[in-house]
Parts: sequence; C-alpha cells; structure tokens
Amino acid sequence: MKFVFASSNPSKTREASEILGDKFELISQSDFGITAAEEIASTFLENALIKARHASFLTGLPAIADDSGLCVDILGGAPGVKSARYSGSQSNDEQNIRKLLDELGYQTNRKAFFVCVIVALNHPDDPTPITLESRWEGEIATKALGNKGFGYDPVFLIPGLNRTAGQLARNEKNAISHRGKALKRLMEELSERYSS
Ligand code: IMP
Repeated sequence: MKFVFASSNPSKTREASEILGDKFELISQSDFGITAAEEIASTFLENALIKARHASFLTGLPAIADDSGLCVDILGGAPGVKSARYSGSQSNDEQNIRKLLDELGYQTNRKAFFVCVIVALNHPDDPTPITLESRWEGEIATKALGNKGFGYDPVFLIPGLNRTAGQLARNEKNAISHRGKALKRLMEELSERYSS
C-alpha cells in the first residue's frame, strides 16, 4: 500500500520507511513537488492533520504526517508547536537552545518531554484517521552537551542514562525516542487496519 509522506526532510522519510518496511511504501511529498503546508494551529495534532490532508488532497493518495516538538513543564508546554522557531521565524538550533536556557535560568524544575504526533488518513475527508502520540520524558540540562542529532538534543538529558540526546548515536536515539516509538506504533496500527 502506498502513502504520500507529508515531509520534505529526507532523513525523516528514510527513518519512517525503514520502520514501515515493504508493506507500506512511503513517497516523500517533495517527489511530487509539493511545498509544505503552513503549520498554523496551536496543537501538534491539528498541525499533523493539516499536513496530512494537504498532501493527500494534492496527490490523491492516502497520507501520513507527523508533527513533533519539545514541551517544558514549567514553561506551560513551550516551546511546543513553536519548537523550530522559538527565538524567531528565522531562528537556528543554537539560538533556540540559548533562548530556552535563558528562560529556565536557575529553575530547579527542568522536566520536559519530546512529543511526536502521527496521523494517517485515506483521503482528505477521512472521518476516521489514525492518530497517535508518543512521548520521551527527560530534563533540560543547564548547558549543551554532545554534537549528535539536531534541534534541542544537546540539552535534553535522559534520566537514568545521564547523557543528553546529543550524545547518543542515531540508532540508540531511535530505539527510545518519541519519533522512533511513534513510528513503531504506527506500523502496528497500519498492520491491524489493513491486514486483509
Ligand atoms: P518537526 O516536527 O520536524 O517540525 O520538528 C519541530 C522542531 O521540534 C524541530 O525543529 C526541533 O527543534 C524540535 N524537535 C523535534 N524532534 C526533536 C528531536 O528528536 N530532537 C531535538 N529536537 C527535536
């Protein structure tokens, strides 16, 4: 079964394809020349639905989309859906991390989680899309450590491991991350729904 994957990020598409295997084929939306939908909503779920519907509408194919970010408890869930542009519309990872560390200051409650929401739908008006959410709980470190991964990985401390996500190899991170877990659950849900 074929799906358009509503992302233009090649490493995301590759990671998702590796987990979904041969049974569910993903074609990146960039292969159709589709530009990304605007993520205008205030929840991850709504943004994932917007992206999936947009890609499905423009290709006529079933679609899968994800939306993810970092939520910090004491900041009321910020940076949340604004994770990629926390310190402004043109911001980069380093600037976003700087802003986050500044906002937290000497705060001792540094609990946070990464979240990944995935949506799969048959067509833009599908009344019963698959929706699922996976979290990765951790804490915000007081300084950046490690140069692997992307985004907030260097300041995301993993309890028990005493390392940041920025210090994990790609396969170590995928085995425990919000995105890795969400994709594995998606595989199970798709297999159940399209078993015949
Ligand atoms: P998107 O779902 O790819 O749009 O991710 C939004 C933003 O959330 C990214 O630009 C990162 O800032 C942050 N983010 C999401 N997942 C991760 C992760 O696994 N590590 C670090 N940052 C992440």
